[in-house]
Amino acid sequence: MTFQNIKGTFDILPDAYTDEGGTRVAPSAEWRYVEDTVRDVMSRYNLDEIRTPILEPTELVARGVGESTDIVQKEMFAFKRGDTNYVLRPEVTAPVVRAFLQHHLEQRGGVQKLFYIGPCFRAEQPQKGRYRQFHQFGVEIMGTDDARADAETIAIMTAVYDALGISDTSLRINTLGRPDRREEYIDAFQDYLEPYADELSETSRRRLERNPLRVLDTKLEHEQAILQDAPKLIDFVSDESRAHYDRVKGLLADLDVPYEEDPYLVRGLDYYTETTFELESEALGAQSALAGGGRYDRLAEVLGSDEPVPAVGFAAGMERLFLALDAADVTLPGARQADVFIAALGEEAERWVFRTTQELRDAGLHVALDLKGRSLKAQMKEANRQNADYTLIIGGNELEAEEATVKDMKSGEQAAVPFKSLVEFLKEERSVEAV
Ligand code: HAM
Repeated sequence: MTFQNIKGTFDILPDAYTDEGGTRVAPSAEWRYVEDTVRDVMSRYNLDEIRTPILEPTELVARGVGESTDIVQKEMFAFKRGDTNYVLRPEVTAPVVRAFLQHHLEQRGGVQKLFYIGPCFRAEQPQKGRYRQFHQFGVEIMGTDDARADAETIAIMTAVYDALGISDTSLRINTLGRPDRREEYIDAFQDYLEPYADELSETSRRRLERNPLRVLDTKLEHEQAILQDAPKLIDFVSDESRAHYDRVKGLLADLDVPYEEDPYLVRGLDYYTETTFELESEALGAQSALAGGGRYDRLAEVLGSDEPVPAVGFAAGMERLFLALDAADVTLPGARQADVFIAALGEEAERWVFRTTQELRDAGLHVALDLKGRSLKAQMKEANRQNADYTLIIGGNELEAEEATVKDMKSGEQAAVPFKSLVEFLKEERSVEAV
């Protein structure tokens, strides 16, 4: 018997493959490329990286994300060991706020602009674009309620997709206002839905009781029709909230970031206040959200801070980003190829090659060799498979002459290069003809 990976998780391999659901799983080099691009964008926007543990206290997530959310109700991978309740983090915002408070990051001065890349875990029903272990990159800008932070967060998010050549995205934005006005909205919303109570699904009826705003998230067409004339959050928020929202929209226009207002956009996590947003791609089908986020001015206090820490952020799913890359037919650079493959003939040559490989690697070259004692033919085949720029052939004659036979794999030309100038030759990538 052999083992299989757990459903809803997947391996990232040196080569691309197709999973059971027919989705292409990108090779590790493409993941690296995307991560490098994310880091590059983050650095342009002057963000610092933060890395928090995969394991967090369950209570942090329950309180931070919210007891009534789907995540806390049914999607946490949580367990108890000894006296501690652990959860595999389902998202990274609550952990980042925990770390901010625990290490007094406000003492670094100014606004804290943080980003992260890493795995998250949710016990959802796996399907295309939805996994139990998935990967997020995200940003949290902490310590400012300035509308520029909201606009910058959104600009960073869209900049990543732009940098990767994904253009068929649409951005929806909304404002939830402050929680103190939300009760009023919820009352109006519940009143509005009252006459339709019998037409609502089980899920929506349950949400109406526990977490009414989530009813707006329904995917059922007949419910969407009912909701078409539902009261809008924007009509209930304070003048300051409206002014903040107007500033965010103005700044997005200044940055040429296109958006659509969606007065019914609510998000699946409880901590949001004021601005919320979601980036979607038509190409993704049912799981259309590439990324989402918003402002969460109260979360620090919910997690025990005496002082408010106004903040805004987003997180993006990497798996969905790859689906969007595929849909846009974007080809990413593959793995770095070997500079040189060294083929050895005979035991003495093998020892020389093994030692010399080390020297070439110390000099910074990407060197491949055979670790199996195969024939020259098999080694040349391997050099081809590895797409090496050059192949060195070392046998008895070469050892005697202290010269390597060097084959330029593109032109097929061969030349003899003295052992002592090998590094120089390979580093300068001189063409074989020039020797
Ligand atoms: P979220 O909307 O729950 O927000 O997740 C952000 C993104 O993670 C989604 O848009 C989606 O691309 C991806 N994602 C979520 N669940 C899965 C899954 N099961 N499989 C694959 N991808 C998934 C948050 O997590 C917030 N922390 C965002 C935020 C940061 N708000 C403020 N700061």
